Parts: sequence; structure tokens; C-alpha cells
Amino acid sequence: KAEGLALTPQMGWNSWNKFACDVNEQLIRETADAMVSSGLRDAGYQYINIDDCWQGTRDAQGFMRPDPVRFPGGMKALADYVHARGLKFGLYSDAGWKTCGERPGSRGYEFQDARTYAEWGVDYLKYDWCFTDGLKAEGAYLTMSEALRQSGRPILFSLCEWGNSKPWEWASKVGHSWRTTGDIFNCFDCIEDHGDWKAFGVLQIMDMQAHLRAYAGPGRWNDADMLEVGNGMPAHQARAHFSIWAMLASPLIAGNDLRRMDAETLSILGHRPVIAVNQDALGVPGWRHTAEDGVEQWWRPMANGDWVVMLLNRNKQPHAARLDWAKLAVTDSVSGRSADFTGAGYRWQNLWQPAQRGTTAQPLSVNLPAQDVLMLRLARAPR
Ligand code: DGJ
Repeated sequence: KAEGLALTPQMGWNSWNKFACDVNEQLIRETADAMVSSGLRDAGYQYINIDDCWQGTRDAQGFMRPDPVRFPGGMKALADYVHARGLKFGLYSDAGWKTCGERPGSRGYEFQDARTYAEWGVDYLKYDWCFTDGLKAEGAYLTMSEALRQSGRPILFSLCEWGNSKPWEWASKVGHSWRTTGDIFNCFDCIEDHGDWKAFGVLQIMDMQAHLRAYAGPGRWNDADMLEVGNGMPAHQARAHFSIWAMLASPLIAGNDLRRMDAETLSILGHRPVIAVNQDALGVPGWRHTAEDGVEQWWRPMANGDWVVMLLNRNKQPHAARLDWAKLAVTDSVSGRSADFTGAGYRWQNLWQPAQRGTTAQPLSVNLPAQDVLMLRLARAPR
């Protein structure tokens, strides 16, 4: 795979969660414009990614062409438009014969497609797993990884195998991120059962990814799937969703309509103190430290020696919680760091309400709202 990419989890936008197959070049241009005018580009969002259904047919030589009605100007011109705004351009394909939306897949055309993407100026490829009967995931993804590498253009490779082959065990050499679960469903706490497949709410994905933290790090991320922030979840759930993705060090790929965002959505997606947690250079995801009565304590170490603690209330009612600093024993098995909240102690800042600050000299008692988080960043107090 291309080295030096996704040293922190990739950030951007993808068309699928909001638009599914209803994509076209005007949507992509307007989204790129909105990424800039909203300030989200400057907050760190980089990639504008088209998901399934951009494809038309292959030409007589096997070269892939975009859908001529939806993308009449072609992909090169669209990539140029995106690049001219200081953003990067991503596409989607599938390791099988067809994509999930039944457009042509890349099976048998991997090297040809990778060359085409490079010529168009593609910076990111999401690679799905439909219509792959008889294929082994590791080999199929390795083939495209190799094809991208030989295309001569550094292209971020995002595996979308849904976790069935445990990609975290083999994919760190193949790609920059791998999905850990089936599709996200626009819901905080539910499972949508389609019979032969399921889609998962925010908490369900979190629970399924929680034990995978040791596999992630700079250039290799557990992908908890694209964000549903701005697609209708109430603010407290959307805030918790975004905070959880930050604690998990998951890619932050917005999945809403950037052209029509309310202020609340923008204030969540663009919230720099929490983005900074997601993008921390140490690249060690957080862990669930305690769980009691539906209230969880998650911890994550930061590169500069700070700690982040997230209190998550999964309950549909408010719930009391307490951080009794002096009694906490926080040791991270992955980074080997431990926090000592006795002695000189730490100062904390509430990341969602930065004016709220305190120290670890006194225990902190709070009433957590339903399905919401309290997220604190702790810095060692000056001596
Ligand atoms: C399944 C993937 O998991 C989704 O994210 C999306 O890419 C769809 N396929 C597109 O068909």
C-alpha cells in the first residue's frame, strides 16, 4: 500500500448514507463547495468520496466509464474541480464482479481500473465486497492494493469487507482502514434486521469494534463506518456518536447533505476539540474502562501526555456518574502509559463546553443526560 497516508484517521465526506445511488456531478461539485464554505475543510475534512452507482459500462477495451447521464463531464474534470478547492477526490469499487448496486465491479480488471483511477486523479478508493462468491478476501484486497501501488499515484485504500474475514488480522499491510462491521443504520441504539443481513446503530457498532483497538495505529484504522450526524438523530445522540468515533480513532467520513446543514450539525461535525482527539498523533484508540448501569467510562491517551475520558450514558434516562480521581487506576495496555491522579494532579476541560474547567483535586459528580456523553481532556497540572 502507499506509505505515508492516513497517519491519522482519514476525514472527509461520502455520498452513500444520505444519497445512496442518487449521485451526480452537480451534487459532488456542490458538496465540495459546501465543504469549503462551511469551514469543514479547514477543520480537517479532506476527501470528497463518491460511493456506489457512479459507474456506467466498460468500453470495448475494458476501460471503466462513468454513468454518462449522471457524470457527463467525466471523472477527470470532476476530480480537477475538487482538487482546485484544496480537497481530495475518492471513488468506490467492488472486489467482485458487480458492486452492491449492481454496477460493474473490478474483478479481473483490477490493474486496468487502478490505472484509470490514477489518470483521473483519484486519491482514495473504497472497495466493497458484494458478488465475491468463491473469492478469498485477503487475496482479492491484496490484488487491488498492489494495482493501486503500481498505478504510480498515492491512493488511500479503504477496505469495505464488513468484518466477516476479520480484516484487522491481515489488512494493515493491504490498506489504510478496514470496516469492522456491517453497515451503519441511522439510529443510536438499534439493529435493523433485513433477514440475510443486518445494519447496526451507533452503540452496536461501538460494541462490536471495542475489542479491536490494538490493531489500529497510524496508517491502519478500524473503520466504524460513515457518520450519520446530520441525518436526523437528535443533537445529544449525534454528539455521542461523534465522540465515540473520536474515542475509537475511526475515520470521520461525514454522511449527510453538506449543502443543507443546520447550525447544530455543523457545530458537531466541526467541533475542533473533539476532532483533535480523533486526530491525535499517537493514534492509540480508547478503551472501555468501566461499565455499570448503562454508564461507561472510556479512556484514551494523547500524544502530548494528556488523557481523554468519555462518560457515556447509554440509558434513555439521565443517570448520575462520578469521577473519583484519586481512586482511579488508569493503565493502558496498548501504549503502556498510566495516569496518576494523586499528588500534583491534572486540570480538566469539558471538550463540548470548553469554558467548563476544573482540577482532579476534587471528585467530579455529574448528572449525565440520556444517551449523551461528557468528554473531558486532562492535562497534567503545572507544578
Ligand atoms: C455496502 C457498504 O457497506 C456501504 O457502505 C455502501 O458502500 C454500499 N455497499 C453501496 O452499495
